[in-house]
Amino acid sequence: MKQISVVEALEAQSPRDAILVQAWIRTKRDAKGFSFLEVNDGSCLKNLQVIVDQGTPGYDQLLEQGTGASVSIQGSLVESPGKGQKWEVQADLAQVLGTADPETYPLQKKRHSDEFLRGIAQLRPRTNKYGAMNRIRSDLSWSVHRYFHEHGFFCVHSPVLTGSDCEGAGELFRVTALEPDRFSADPKIMEQDFFGKPAYLTVSGQLTAEVMACSLGKVYTFGPTFRAENSNTPRHAAEFWMIEPEVAFADLSAIIDLAEDLIKTVLGEVRTSRADDLELFARFVDKGLNQALDEVLDSPFVRLPYAEAVTLLQEAGEKRSFEYPVEYGMDLQTEHERYLVEEHFQRPVVVFDYPASIKPFYMRVNDGGETVAAMDVLLPRVGEVVGGSQREERLDVLRRRMEAQGMDIEEYRWYLDLRRYGTVPHSGFGLGFERLLMLMTGVHNIRDVLPFPRTPKHLQF
Ligand code: 4AD
Ligand code: MG
Repeated sequence: MKQISVVEALEAQSPRDAILVQAWIRTKRDAKGFSFLEVNDGSCLKNLQVIVDQGTPGYDQLLEQGTGASVSIQGSLVESPGKGQKWEVQADLAQVLGTADPETYPLQKKRHSDEFLRGIAQLRPRTNKYGAMNRIRSDLSWSVHRYFHEHGFFCVHSPVLTGSDCEGAGELFRVTALEPDRFSADPKIMEQDFFGKPAYLTVSGQLTAEVMACSLGKVYTFGPTFRAENSNTPRHAAEFWMIEPEVAFADLSAIIDLAEDLIKTVLGEVRTSRADDLELFARFVDKGLNQALDEVLDSPFVRLPYAEAVTLLQEAGEKRSFEYPVEYGMDLQTEHERYLVEEHFQRPVVVFDYPASIKPFYMRVNDGGETVAAMDVLLPRVGEVVGGSQREERLDVLRRRMEAQGMDIEEYRWYLDLRRYGTVPHSGFGLGFERLLMLMTGVHNIRDVLPFPRTPKHLQF
């Protein structure tokens, strides 16, 4: 007896005897003397047809079961006389592994809304759409790792527990081992906490990735990051995954090229490897999906200095109105990003050289001191997918910026050591994995690309 998955059965080259298939019933139809099952084990989008005739051991138990029950089928894989499938299984033995009461099983054979399915994340991946989503997510993740591996990057693991706020935006989740009634920001109490100082969940693995890049050369991290941003938008989650390459001896333009090549390569690979699953999204979720993906894959990304973006947006603002009028010195809002990408250029745009005043301490100050060597990659539909920069490698300049931002220099002594001993130009970026997945699938809410989304007031499952 050889156990095979549904995808292996569907892609078989020849008939096979003595196989074992274990899966969940998607639908069951009883005809005179026969039961026709469509079963799925999550290995692919398509179901496998199983035919159990009434003489088969286990037939009677099966009769009482329907959608959602799990079964174990022994039998042969034979050519299917029916339309729509090449192979089917003729059962010799059918066993019910787990029953599912049709009165209460929430997944009925009809389309459920995304909102409804969010409330049953424990069963959501058993639907066609969320099964496909999770397989695409897996392939995209694997493709990212392969890309870096093939380009000579080392995978490094940044810690999740940290004592520093990389982005300086104060969107940190605190971590404490003290009982709630004892917790306090008072340094005397803090000393008694687990680490003896304030501790947080990381917002970015960048600072430790810089350490590794300044030793190993080319590295990347790919891990969960956490932000207590209280923005209830379709693009923000409190826990999301970030891909962060960090490259020694690279300048800003080198990592802009890297970001473009990475995005195009992984989207292209997964478009092929999960073509079936993606077709579901192109048919039922977003009719313009293939065109949007073509646009990203086929056109060179525009490189646009921030100052030019502002001028362009101000000109556009004379003809149409933005909710937030554009001024030099402000951060671009979603409506501005979308205008640039979807209307003006109609392809991805990389905005670079932002005003120093709106960017974190670690970004390299450009000549003249007004701007920093920062870049954001903006894609259609999702807006900012990548944020990165060349890092300030000059000890004195970096120290002055940190002081100006009121940072505790002693706390960052280790980080400054990278500049104190053998400093090198280096650059990196963070790519929001869920945002890329939103682009890939056309899904417009981040809650539907994360298997278990964490957002304000939502910590279920
Ligand atoms: O632009 P951000 O804040 O950059 C950094 O954290 C840098 N330290 C990264 C680096 O240079 N190594 O975040 C990077 C990306 C954003 O462009 C966005 O795609 C994603 O992370 N992101 C979020 N995704 C989902 N939910 C949120 N709350 C996100 N915040 C940022
Ligand atoms: Mg950013």
